[in-house]
Amino acid sequence: MPIPLHPRAEACGKVILLGEHSVVYGHPAVAAGLPQGVCLQAVPREHAKLPISLSIPQWQLELELRADSEHPVARACLEVLTHCDGPVTGWAITGTTCLPARAGLGSSAALTVALARLVLGEHADLDELVDASLAGERVFHGEPSGLDSRVAAQGGVLRFVRGAGAEPVPLAGPLPLLLIPSNIPRSTAIQVAKVRARLERQRSVITPTLSALGAAAEASIRALAHQDLTALGELMTIAHHLLGAIDVSSPALDALQASALAAGALGAKLTGAGGGGCLLVLPPTDPSALLTAFATYEPLLVEVHP
Ligand code: MEV
Repeated sequence: MPIPLHPRAEACGKVILLGEHSVVYGHPAVAAGLPQGVCLQAVPREHAKLPISLSIPQWQLELELRADSEHPVARACLEVLTHCDGPVTGWAITGTTCLPARAGLGSSAALTVALARLVLGEHADLDELVDASLAGERVFHGEPSGLDSRVAAQGGVLRFVRGAGAEPVPLAGPLPLLLIPSNIPRSTAIQVAKVRARLERQRSVITPTLSALGAAAEASIRALAHQDLTALGELMTIAHHLLGAIDVSSPALDALQASALAAGALGAKLTGAGGGGCLLVLPPTDPSALLTAFATYEPLLVEVHP
């Protein structure tokens, strides 16, 4: 018999409302979990010594988790399983997901948290899940802040500070959000390195820019508590420009952001690491003009609940 796994586990995707990148430097961020991000199911393979197989058709992922594999997903998954004292052979794991991969919606954190839950169970301690997920996330992203893993494990809308965990953010009502995929893939590690390089070159300018991003996240908590969507939208738009100033936007994202505002968005910004990925839009009460303007991008309308 292989070391046991639970038969099924889930984790959330995430959307960062405010505070990406500045969170790496200790400023607060606000993010929401996207329910049913990744769902994994495990069944024993015919022999306990066979490598673990992992199949996630929506990501065109078909892998065997072999110790000598160079595939980052295989390496990350083995790190997570080893961290949790879980099995490293003997299981077939299949996954389903609605999250596009590498689009800034926390796909890798959702995968690594769901995998840790297969070992530790659905009632596992959140800190333990986050630590296990981070063992895998480091393979993908270098030194992540832990925000994505925390939201993947905990869900809801969270205020997160690196090293200090997360607390739920009260919402006065449901929050509709529109996610517009730019269809440009990007690497979080490269984006984080670009910010670090600009900070090192222009410390006296970039340090207050990072603080302003943190202040926008803090101010968004007040806006959410009062359902003040005008203020929230303005903060998102300001954040987009500050993120441009720290070198993580792109001409394509800037053009999408301007089009969203022209089509009536209350606010719009890149979300996640930037460089590509998704544009996050706060729609007006009637989002139809926005949905029409971006129909070819197949936008995703989600509602975040208190
Ligand atoms: C990536 O989803 C969020 C970043 O702030 C990186 C991190 O928090 O580790 C860009």
